[in-house]
Amino acid sequence: MRRPIVAGNWKLHGSRAENGRLIEELTAQFPAKAVAACIVCPPFVYLQECARLLRGSSIELGAQDVCAEAQGAFTGEVSAAMLKDVGCEYVIVGHSERRLIYRESDQLVARKFAAAQSKSLVPILCVGEQLADREADRTEEVIARQLDAVLALSGVDAFANAVIAYEPVWAIGTGRNATPEQAQQVHAFIRARLGARSDKIAAETRILYGGSVKAGNAAELFAMPDVDGGLIGGASLKADEFLAILAAAGTQ
Ligand code: 13P
Repeated sequence: MRRPIVAGNWKLHGSRAENGRLIEELTAQFPAKAVAACIVCPPFVYLQECARLLRGSSIELGAQDVCAEAQGAFTGEVSAAMLKDVGCEYVIVGHSERRLIYRESDQLVARKFAAAQSKSLVPILCVGEQLADREADRTEEVIARQLDAVLALSGVDAFANAVIAYEPVWAIGTGRNATPEQAQQVHAFIRARLGARSDKIAAETRILYGGSVKAGNAAELFAMPDVDGGLIGGASLKADEFLAILAAAGTQ
C-alpha cells in the first residue's frame, strides 16, 4: 500500500507571524495517526523556525529547492546538508517555476535530486508539460524526458527514496485543474516508465498530483488509482482548506 502524501508548497509567501499562525492551526487539528502523510515546504529562511514549531507533531518539513553542489563558492545557494541540518526531511526539485523562470535544465534537476539523496533528503521530483506541449500532443514526450534525466543519473532504485509530483504547468495557480482522468493518464504513464525498469519501484513510488488542487476537487483526484496525494500551492496557505485536502487523501 502506498501511503498518500499531501505536501504544501508555500512558494514565496509567509512571514514569521503568518507561518506561526498557520502551523499552530495545522498542528492543533492534524491527527497524529492520519492516513496521509503531511509535509509543509516554507521558504528557506523560515525552515529552522518551522522545524521548531513542528516538533512533536507528525507534520514533516521540506524545502522548495536545493543546490546541486555540496559546498563552495556558490553565492546565494543552500546545500542539502544545510537543509538536513535544520530539520528538513524532503525537498522539492524541478518545480516548473524553477525550470521555466530560472531556466533549470533536466540535467541540473537530476543533479539536485542526487544531491538531496546524498544527504538522505527525500526529493519530491516535479514533472509537467506546458499548455503548448499538451496541445501538440507532446505531454508524454516531455514527461519522459524529465524523468529519464533522473533515471539516467541516479537509476530506478533511487526512486525507493523519492516522490514524484505531476504538475501540468497550465494547471498551476490558474484555478483550472487537470481532470481526474487527465491526471490518471499521466500518472499511469509515469508509473509504466518506472515499471519498464522495475515493477517493484513502480508499484511503491508515490506520484502526487499538483495544480489547482482545492478542498472541492481533491477527493475526485485522489480517488484515481495512480494518484497518491497532492502537492498543493495556494490552498496550502489556508489551514482549513489544507486540512480538508488532507482529509480527502485519508478517505481513499
Ligand atoms: P497551486 O495549487 O497554487 O495551483 O500550485 C500548485 C503548485 O505549483 C504546487 O507546487
